[in-house]
Amino acid sequence: MFRSTAVSARHVSRGFAQRRLASTKTVKEVLDEVIPKKQLQLKQLKTEHGQAVLGDVKVEHVVGGMRGLKAMLWEASVLDPNEGIRFHGLTIPDCQNALTAAPGGKEIIAESMFWLLLTGKVPTEAETRQLSRQLAEKGDLPEYIEKLIDSLPPTLHPMTQLGMGVAALNHESKFQEAYERGIKKSEYWTYALEDSLNLLARLPALAARIYRNVYNPGKPIPKINKDLDLVGNYVNMLGYGDNHDLTEYLRLYIAIHGDHEGGNASAHTSHLVGSTLSDPYLSYAAALYALAGPLHGLANQEVLRWQMNMQKELGDDITHENIEDYLWKTLKSGQVVPGYGHGVLRYPDPRFMALQDFCESRPNLLADPIVQLVKKTYEVAPAVLKEHGKTKNPFPNVDAASGCVLYHYGLTEFKYYTVIFGVSRALGCLTQYVWSRALGLPIERPKSLSMDAIEKLIKQ
Ligand SMILES: CC(C)(COP(=O)(O)OP(=O)(O)OC[C@H]1O[C@@H](n2cnc3c(N)ncnc32)[C@H](O)[C@@H]1OP(=O)(O)O)[C@@H](O)C(=O)NCCC(=O)NCCS
Repeated sequence: MFRSTAVSARHVSRGFAQRRLASTKTVKEVLDEVIPKKQLQLKQLKTEHGQAVLGDVKVEHVVGGMRGLKAMLWEASVLDPNEGIRFHGLTIPDCQNALTAAPGGKEIIAESMFWLLLTGKVPTEAETRQLSRQLAEKGDLPEYIEKLIDSLPPTLHPMTQLGMGVAALNHESKFQEAYERGIKKSEYWTYALEDSLNLLARLPALAARIYRNVYNPGKPIPKINKDLDLVGNYVNMLGYGDNHDLTEYLRLYIAIHGDHEGGNASAHTSHLVGSTLSDPYLSYAAALYALAGPLHGLANQEVLRWQMNMQKELGDDITHENIEDYLWKTLKSGQVVPGYGHGVLRYPDPRFMALQDFCESRPNLLADPIVQLVKKTYEVAPAVLKEHGKTKNPFPNVDAASGCVLYHYGLTEFKYYTVIFGVSRALGCLTQYVWSRALGLPIERPKSLSMDAIEKLIKQ
């Protein structure tokens, strides 16, 4: 079902995202049409503007984590520091208006977001449903993966397990098999797409098996329902299928968290690894280990841990003043405030705002003390962080809100939260993997310099 017909002409004219009311094409058929146009665009950029200057490389870029350096191509989304993310020109509210929801639901589903990211077009309902079915039909795990995951100690971090499972799935890689056979470069993307769809389809079963083994050993996992969307099946396999609100929340979270342009650590990692023509499984496994760092994807587990420690320490006496004191205590002990700050954003993250809106529309969520604490912290933290004066962005990022809602709905194992992020971020990383092969992008190889070499260059 389309949630609304209100995609304005302004939005449609941006990029090449458009609604195509009657189409029943497959994602491959749409890509067949779109790819030649993009190949031509790249060719023209290279031949006509290859020497155009996009910015200077300063010493601060080289020693400062390349922050702000415009140095990579990423097709699916572009991040504006003040406005936040746009997926092929569409903001999160635009996507909420335009993209298909699940039957009986209201939130965007992963399939429609994946379609938009991949093709730059808003899928029709028929196209979305057909992709859902295609993924559900491919969703079962091979037996050797089940055995591998079941053999891991439950104390091994769920993210480590997820990365291992994804890497091992490359046993099935069509891309690798075709490469060994000696296919033409122009055919790479079709095998990349096949692997990407297979991987996306299997992530829910893999992630759910890890959850079952670590937190509910021995509990049966429901079979994949071919009539359900990807996240509907994921929540079912996690054991929360009867919780409609949690399912809707995870649909929204997984869709809007699926891509955040290319420079972030996980996206950049998958891009770099993929550029060596490592297959989509290995590229995404590498991305997952970047996601597992506390400054990146692990922040969602850290936020909840931090907020709960705050709750424990403050008891019932939760006032703005007490929260302010707790924030200062965290900062003075040399720790970062998890869920705040961003490498690019300089304004509250629209993904955070979308999750807050989800809470605002549900009185039972708003009544939850941990959800209230997150909201109150948001009312205090930006001013404290501004006064502290270090972070360039004192506002919340998506992780400030994501965990507390899961906790409310009974998914309380916060070590697992980054795995959910890992299911989501595949949407963007796999999209770019397909595009990088379609555009024939080369292996990444930036130039590094030692400090002595930098000083020598400065003197020259
Ligand atoms: C996201 C993050 C890694 C971005 O880092 P960045 O691009 O280097 O951010 P800035 O340029 O604003 O950092 C400048 C300084 O402010 C500090 N800073 C940034 N965010 C901070 C925060 N939330 N709390 C305290 N200090 C912070 C940095 O550690 C850095 O300190 P340093 O100069 O001593 O190294 C950083 O904001 C952070 O650690 N946030 C908390 C973790 C988090 O929420 N991660 C999820 C991101 S989606």
